[in-house]
Amino acid sequence: MSMQPPIIAANWKMNKTVPEALDYIAGLLKEESTFGDRTVVVAPPFTALHPMAESMEGSSIRLAAQNVAWAESGAYTGEVSATMLADVGCDCVIVGHSERRSLFGERDEDVNRKISRALKAGLEVILCVGETLQERESGNTLSTVERQLWKGLIKMTADDIKKIVVAYEPVWAIGTGKTATPEQAAEVHLFIKDIVNAIAGNGQKGRTVPVIYGGSVNEANINELMSRDGIDGALVGGASLKLESFLNIIRFVTG
Ligand code: PGA
Repeated sequence: MSMQPPIIAANWKMNKTVPEALDYIAGLLKEESTFGDRTVVVAPPFTALHPMAESMEGSSIRLAAQNVAWAESGAYTGEVSATMLADVGCDCVIVGHSERRSLFGERDEDVNRKISRALKAGLEVILCVGETLQERESGNTLSTVERQLWKGLIKMTADDIKKIVVAYEPVWAIGTGKTATPEQAAEVHLFIKDIVNAIAGNGQKGRTVPVIYGGSVNEANINELMSRDGIDGALVGGASLKLESFLNIIRFVTG
């Protein structure tokens, strides 16, 4: 069991209209008093951010965007800036999700610029890293994750890094029903903590970066995943779309 308070985040991806989002959040807010030490994060599509921020005002549930522009403002048709996200009440943003990397051509350099923008606007960041099946099978899991971390976090200070959570999401486990075993995940999580400590230099003062796991997390596997050292929470896609199953994931028990 990790020493960090668990972070359980819902990544809705391109799902839910505003009425659907508000209905879900009303149900989540009703159960908030049962969340205990868990930090709950919800990442809806852009269109639902503002109405959700309004209905969540005063609650401890954190609101995240799923993406952010690397530019601050100007002629970038279709993009949304970090300042705009902060303005509508976002607390944090997911950066570098593998779907953004593989479907929309996002490179480590873009990820780095997006993180800088987000931090400057006062947002916290969930930085996603993870290997493809081919990278795992060729023995390149750790080197892939190491590259994504160094390039994604280049020029970040120890103070910047305090505003970052890393999500380890093996690409082969996302939306496939194949979860990394708790052993596979824990190995990479502990590696990520070491690398991020090295990137932050001495400034971390005993703190290690929270690392959450993503990739086919559900009600049936969350307890086992969360019982492992180094697994500080979960980033949940498909199983977060139904309120009941997300609530059961939030309420995981270990040991
Ligand atoms: P999944 O997605 O839980 O549906 O595998 C996780 C993610 O992509 O963040």
